[in-house]
Amino acid sequence: MKKRVLSGIRATGRLHVGNYLGAVKGMLELQSDPDYETLYMVADLHTVTTPYKVDELRINRNEVIVDYLAAGLDPEKSIIFRQADVKEHAELAFYFASVVSIARMQHLPTFKDKVKQYPKDSTIALLNYPILMSSDILLYKAGLVPVGIDQEPHLEVAREIARKMNDLYGTDFPEPKRFATKGEYVPSLKGEGKMGKSVEGSYINLTDTVDEVRKKVRSMPTATEAGGEMTGGVKALFAFANLFIPDNMEEYHDEFEAGNLRFSDMKDAVAAAISEELRPLQEKRKELEADRAYLDKVMKEGAERAREIASKTVQEVKEKMGLG
Ligand code: TYM
Repeated sequence: MKKRVLSGIRATGRLHVGNYLGAVKGMLELQSDPDYETLYMVADLHTVTTPYKVDELRINRNEVIVDYLAAGLDPEKSIIFRQADVKEHAELAFYFASVVSIARMQHLPTFKDKVKQYPKDSTIALLNYPILMSSDILLYKAGLVPVGIDQEPHLEVAREIARKMNDLYGTDFPEPKRFATKGEYVPSLKGEGKMGKSVEGSYINLTDTVDEVRKKVRSMPTATEAGGEMTGGVKALFAFANLFIPDNMEEYHDEFEAGNLRFSDMKDAVAAAISEELRPLQEKRKELEADRAYLDKVMKEGAERAREIASKTVQEVKEKMGLG
């Protein structure tokens, strides 16, 4: 039997370069490997774990699918769907919640960060976030998950739940592992922390124009004293260069050491390489935007195929737990 792969991205807006390099590139690589059966979803249920706007979610849960297809995810090769269209995700998460302690969830770094960000809106759904993510993966008994390094604590929870369920109820869940890409950690343009949707000015969207990309990269903070240590901004610029124009790295390092690196030239070269990579995605996106009927068909068929697998797992779990 083929090994299963599952991944997802929240429906919080257009995808950015961090999502693309950390997750989508891995999704693409596994999609074209005949040893794997790949399932890729929009994590729209996860979107409601923090404050959101109903009208925006309604749009974004479809826009992520457009981004997926534009990037090369292929419904002929992968099952592409929206999480909320498969009710078993929420159902299995409830059963899993019965084997996870509140303390374990409260101590997760991702939960603590979100509580700091939304002190008045830290809900039970937010506490439950990693359990729902475990349900996404284990519903399909996926053993491999292409995600960025920030998701590792959540995968650890999924492994714990798999072990616990298998011990207590005799299920056969695999312990899922992360599939890492070269861009598993894409830094913020601001030179501190990672690129993320919630930090304004930190990200480049996949839909950004050539001018927007150039402007954003030029704004990276790279002021340095000659011969000094690399600042966060310089490190970030080097990280982008390494991801998009790796062949130039030696030269940039030599020039930096010698104190004659021209950051403006380096930035423009990085920006041009990013835009070059994004161009085919943007062209494909335009075609897809004009064909809503095709998108609806992809989503409908994807959900049907996902449900077929998901309902079997839920039935099996219910029986083993004494609910079947
Ligand atoms: P989300 O929506 O925050 O991010 C989606 C994916 O993008 C990756 N990513 C990054 N990778 C490298 N550098 C960055 N700066 C960067 N920013 C984001 C994330 O690691 C992720 O792979 N919990 C998940 C969504 C989810 C999921 C799942 C993933 C729900 N269920 C099941 C896998 C399997 C999340 O919030 O991702």
